[in-house]
Amino acid sequence: MKTILPPPESQVRELCYAPEWHLSQDVKFLCWLARVRVPASLGILEIGCDRGQLTRELAVACPFRTIYAQDYALPYRGEVGQIAVHLPNVVVLTSPSLMLRYDHLNLGLIFLDGDRSTPGVVADTIKAWGYFRDTSNPGFIVWHDAQPGSESGVRPYLENRIDPFHEVTFVNGTWLALAGFNGAAL
Ligand SMILES: C[S@@+](CC[C@H](N)C(=O)[O-])C[C@H]1O[C@@H](n2cnc3c(N)ncnc32)[C@H](O)[C@@H]1O
Repeated sequence: MKTILPPPESQVRELCYAPEWHLSQDVKFLCWLARVRVPASLGILEIGCDRGQLTRELAVACPFRTIYAQDYALPYRGEVGQIAVHLPNVVVLTSPSLMLRYDHLNLGLIFLDGDRSTPGVVADTIKAWGYFRDTSNPGFIVWHDAQPGSESGVRPYLENRIDPFHEVTFVNGTWLALAGFNGAAL
């Protein structure tokens, strides 16, 4: 798997919140990627948005894009996407990821941050991959929990099942890996 350095601090913006689930570098990289490398007309889908901390950062970083934020209902933690749902460019979708239809959305980035078990990440990846195959949109899939030594199923799946066929890039100093489709590149 190829490894790259994140962009310099001078190219990333400060965050609204100290992240709860991510390293700050993860959130800064995702906002940079969305802002700088995803074509302006395309939206972003976050699978597993929880209460919407990252959603909010993405929405503020990209005020002219639609951010679709998806999660199950969160019975003990509040409402899905509650931190971001009031922003005009945020659409919250409440369902399990495998029930969600997004083939009609115009996306340039799909961030997989829901079920990190091997069956979960395989299912979400197949769906996201199919999206870029079928739409021909230029864009990226980004996986969370892809750092070396991660206890989730993400890293072995990417190393053994994806990278041999389609290049996956790990972003050093983060927990993120990504792949570009239909000409999208860093
Ligand atoms: C690490 S948290 C996400 C954090 C969020 N992206 C953020 O940056 O604030 C993982 C979330 O994935 C959700 N999740 C797990 N499996 C899911 C599935 N199959 N469908 C939808 N959401 C799922 C959980 O409910 C949880 O809120």
